[in-house]
Amino acid sequence: MAFDIVGDIAILKKPLKYSEEEYVRKIVEKHKGVRTILLQETEVEPPYRIARYRLLYGENRTETIAIEYGLKFKVDVARCYYSSRLSNERYRIARNVKDGEDVLVMFSGVNPYSIYISKFSKARTIYSVELNPFAVKYGLENVRLNKANNVITILGDVRDVVPYIEYLSNSDGIVKEEILEDTIESSIELNRVIFLDKIDYRVKAREYLEREFFEGKERFKKKFDRIIMPLPKESDLFLEVAIPAIKDGGIIHLYHFLSEENYLEEAEKILEEYSNRIGFEYEILGITRVGDISPGVYRFCIDFKVKRT
Ligand SMILES: C[S@@+](CC[C@H](N)C(=O)[O-])C[C@H]1O[C@@H](n2cnc3c(N)ncnc32)[C@H](O)[C@@H]1O
Repeated sequence: MAFDIVGDIAILKKPLKYSEEEYVRKIVEKHKGVRTILLQETEVEPPYRIARYRLLYGENRTETIAIEYGLKFKVDVARCYYSSRLSNERYRIARNVKDGEDVLVMFSGVNPYSIYISKFSKARTIYSVELNPFAVKYGLENVRLNKANNVITILGDVRDVVPYIEYLSNSDGIVKEEILEDTIESSIELNRVIFLDKIDYRVKAREYLEREFFEGKERFKKKFDRIIMPLPKESDLFLEVAIPAIKDGGIIHLYHFLSEENYLEEAEKILEEYSNRIGFEYEILGITRVGDISPGVYRFCIDFKVKRT
């Protein structure tokens, strides 16, 4: 039976092998702690990577607390991405971090990677950048719950935030018009909000930010020892902002969907293309299979060292 358990919520994904009633009966029988059973009715969708659910059993709620490796993650599964299947991978990454490193976690969700790194390494600072205001709200709460005091959480698109991260602090946010309502609804407490309204941000956001907020400030002043990029479908597109933000000799963990048969060639192809386009050299340190997506396709993490050309 394929289902995920997040805290006290069980989540079933279609296609179902048996009837809904059969699943409910078996889950309730085997997993005494489960209070709610949801059926995932859609694929996870961009930009927040969340799906829609239907209640099959129990309490009508989608908020819960997941416990992994002794850490607590509060999450609303209907409003934020969260996968309990990635716990070993998060631990693997955290154990790779060396003493005193400055780490950037892009696409940080409710902060699981950042909190693992804070608790299982001696990193100096961990910056988290996340677009979904609900995820940021829970991310800030999870930092408090786990006393992960060296985690700095910022709301915004990594494209807007990372070039100016040196000038941003914990709970700052760069908010686009299209996520304004979500930001308000999430009741997120932000220190400083920079609004990008009524502009065609894909083209103009950078100019606008520079003109209105960061004039005279150096772009990519802050450089990181390590950058985590957990957005498997399109992480590579964001190398454009990761490469200028990594120190010479720094390490990037890039998640990508690759095929079982040709994953080595496919990983090389991605890095080759971007290294030519952006201008950097790389050394692949390892490629780890992290989970399955569809027959023959898996989530992989490509660990590579960046050398400036
Ligand atoms: C696959 S989830 C990973 C979340 C988290 N790292 C985890 O492992 O639970 C990807 C996250 O990236 C966020 N996201 C998508 N595009 C983004 C962007 N351009 N800038 C910042 N965050 C983004 C989504 O809202 C989502 O929370």
